[in-house]
Amino acid sequence: MNSFEQEIANALAATGSFEADAALKLISVPPDTTHGNFTIPCFSLAKVMRKAPKMIAEDLAAQVKLPAGLSKVEAVNGYLNFFIDRGFLAKSTLDEIAAKGLNYGHQDSNGKVVCIDFSSPNIGKELAFHHLRSTMIGNSLSRIYKAAGYKVERINHLGDWGTAFGKLIVMYLREKLPTDQATLDALTVKELNILYAAFSKASKEEPGLEDEARAAFTKLEQGDEFYRTLWTAFRAATLKELMRIYDMMGVGFDHYTGESFFEDKIPAILDELREKNLMVKSNELDVVMLDEFDLNPCLIRKSDGSTLYATRDLAAANYRMKEYNFDKCLYVVDLGQALHFKQVFHVLKKMGREWYTNMYHIPFGVILQMVDGKWEKGKTRTGTASLLRDVIDAAQKKILEFIDQKNPELENKELIARQIGISALTFNDLKNSRLKDVRFDWDAVMSFEGDTGPYVQNAHVRLCSIMRKAGYTVNVSDVDYAQLTDDHAYNLINILAKKGDKILAAVKDDEPSVLAQYALEIAEAAHKFIHEDRVLGSAEEKSRLFLVQSTQIVLENVLDLLGLFPIRQM
Ligand code: ARG
Repeated sequence: MNSFEQEIANALAATGSFEADAALKLISVPPDTTHGNFTIPCFSLAKVMRKAPKMIAEDLAAQVKLPAGLSKVEAVNGYLNFFIDRGFLAKSTLDEIAAKGLNYGHQDSNGKVVCIDFSSPNIGKELAFHHLRSTMIGNSLSRIYKAAGYKVERINHLGDWGTAFGKLIVMYLREKLPTDQATLDALTVKELNILYAAFSKASKEEPGLEDEARAAFTKLEQGDEFYRTLWTAFRAATLKELMRIYDMMGVGFDHYTGESFFEDKIPAILDELREKNLMVKSNELDVVMLDEFDLNPCLIRKSDGSTLYATRDLAAANYRMKEYNFDKCLYVVDLGQALHFKQVFHVLKKMGREWYTNMYHIPFGVILQMVDGKWEKGKTRTGTASLLRDVIDAAQKKILEFIDQKNPELENKELIARQIGISALTFNDLKNSRLKDVRFDWDAVMSFEGDTGPYVQNAHVRLCSIMRKAGYTVNVSDVDYAQLTDDHAYNLINILAKKGDKILAAVKDDEPSVLAQYALEIAEAAHKFIHEDRVLGSAEEKSRLFLVQSTQIVLENVLDLLGLFPIRQM
């Protein structure tokens, strides 16, 4: 079926007063539906039609043939208002939800490929709390793009190459730690963190240490076997902990192609830059000048021959194009790297890659925490950045306390508490436009009231619990749609009907917040419907239970698209 807007535009075109396209542009959707679901202000038509707006509206109301699914057209003070037939809306929406299930509102495959580079932490360290942002925004975008018909390549561009590894190697050897394979296999990221801290401390007293680390990395880059063995062990130890946390959060990747993966693909890039005369020397460095774009030069290679972050991103972009033939490539990385991505994209332009226009940096704001009455970036009261796993543990603990009060017998309560906790953290990250900084306040984030994760989770739990209590499921043929036309039912159905549009709007702006706000809308309308219209035991039980089922299906998938766990019981 065409959208209601399109049907109305066609009907207006049939009166002979305008073209359908022009009519379509005039239609607006008022937030308050007391004066109709669609409205056409006739004021701008007065000049062309040489009639008063009031007359225009009245004449059109008399002439237009109401399309199917609309119940009424009305002219009020120069506005032409159309009303949806509630029974029709209920039937068309709920039948489709029943037929498509969790995929309701999704698009068929559009044959396009999107690469999404997200999370991409630096190896050798543990995930910090701020890593939640790229991880969860990217995770949600990858689910939303898939629902919008794209083939998605989820890429973790691990920071597994660079001077940081020189530092770890220097410190490891200096502390004379055992280098037999068994010890290396058992290394943990915690031990690496300790080495890191030790390096930072020592290098303050011995300025020469930084040079030693750089030299160690150069040696690693040149293929020293022993150094490679150490590096492999460091990488594996971090990856193990990383995977544990991703699993816990329900986050997955198709490719773990980190920076080291591009090492052997860099010479070809360097050759091409040289051949095309794009590389020049500046202060001992090889750079590509970007003056014509008002950008600082992009650094390609250091004097000792070692390559840089940008060089590896150039190789990665070319590799992704060759391997996945993407239509879009997104980089979900904090705002602080805006210049880096501009530089990389413009070097690609200079290299003649027309597709550089399909690469997008998707930046986001920082997480702020309250320290002594002020919102501060990246720190806690003790002045250190918090580890993501500690934050997850604390979230789990808070929710578990709540469950222990309300429902201590709940099966699997540890797991459920962790999933609600992670969902709460995620929702807080996604609920506002991604460019905004996120204010992190424990009590607000974990609250079951307000615009929070637990609030939307709880709406889903309530729907599931009504379905459990009913003990049966309703089929389409058992539903009387005329029983779903009261204000609460109508309002809820009207919201459910927008799922497809919301998915497309989220993709258009790369904004998971569109769906987070949508989840809140559904939760609120569902709470009202359940609260004020008894479901079980009412004369309309089957029809109302059917709406409960339909809402549960839509909400479950919206939670899933956000990367939240759709809990059924708490
Ligand atoms: N590892 C980088 C960091 O932690 C982020 C990498 C983002 N992706 C990319 N292709 N540069 O800052």
